[in-house]
Amino acid sequence: MAKTVLITGASSGFGRDTALLFKKKGWNVAATMRSPEKAKSWTGPASLFTPRLDVTDRASMQAGIDETVAKFGGIDVLINNAGFGLLGPLEGASPEDLRREVDTNLMGVIGMIQLVLPLMRKARSGVIVNVSSLGGRMTLPLFSAYHATKYAVEGLTESLQYELEGYGIRVKLVEPGGSKTNFDSSTSMVRTPHPAYQALIDGFDKMWAEQAAKLPGPEKVVQAIYRAATDGSARLRYPALAFPFLTIRNLVGARGWSAIMKMMVRRMR
Ligand SMILES: NC(=O)c1ccc[n+]([C@@H]2O[C@H](COP(=O)([O-])OP(=O)(O)OC[C@H]3O[C@@H](n4cnc5c(N)ncnc54)[C@H](OP(=O)(O)O)[C@@H]3O)[C@@H](O)[C@H]2O)c1
Repeated sequence: MAKTVLITGASSGFGRDTALLFKKKGWNVAATMRSPEKAKSWTGPASLFTPRLDVTDRASMQAGIDETVAKFGGIDVLINNAGFGLLGPLEGASPEDLRREVDTNLMGVIGMIQLVLPLMRKARSGVIVNVSSLGGRMTLPLFSAYHATKYAVEGLTESLQYELEGYGIRVKLVEPGGSKTNFDSSTSMVRTPHPAYQALIDGFDKMWAEQAAKLPGPEKVVQAIYRAATDGSARLRYPALAFPFLTIRNLVGARGWSAIMKMMVRRMR
């Protein structure tokens, strides 16, 4: 019998391509998203099931899960993928920006896990894949709020593995590096400007644009998500596109990385 995966934030990027890969592999797929009507051009031909689900709205999360269970009979794999970035100085972020960042990237993950756990515990099996980021293992300037959420997802997942192991439920972290998706758009990368930091913002934007032009597509990340969900192992972390940032960070250690970042920021100012 086909297994069932529920993916959050499946309207574009990693979520969309992961939904299509699972479908191709014969899974039942609930490709959940905030606005299923926006995705008709590609979900229609793929005949994907697309429940509406906003990870900042608990009732919509429960409804998306209930619809999936009603259609497929259960949920074997949950992929917490929905997320967006706040880019800019922390001082420029409004309380609303910050709340939405935490509500989406952290509370959304926690809420989805809480809601699927009763199902998985009853079935005594399940896999939960949290799409974190290399930004959950190392930091760049101007991403403090985003890093705060991704570091939190790392700690959350690492701790959860201990309490869920006894119920046959495995948790996983996929840690993507920069990849060409919709993430760089104005909906997924919300800017928090502040005039006092303009020189740093300009310098960072220049570097970011150079990096963005060279970014690889999402394939390696999507493969890592699929592997994490299906390899049957107890492995926790799946970095993807780790080179160059995480590779260098691991080589030079925390102090070495901070020194490199500080030097870069001094040059930008
Ligand atoms: N691309 C990268 O370089 C990169 C690197 C590291 C980590 N990541 C992580 O990968 C994940 C996916 O990002 P992506 O690169 O695939 O970017 P993306 O193409 O912009 O996809 C982000 C998805 O999240 C959804 N989303 C945002 N807020 C939501 C909410 N409240 N409820 C439900 N869905 C919501 C978006 O839906 P809408 O269409 O409704 O906005 C979209 O489907 C994120 O968690 C991101 O932090 C990305």
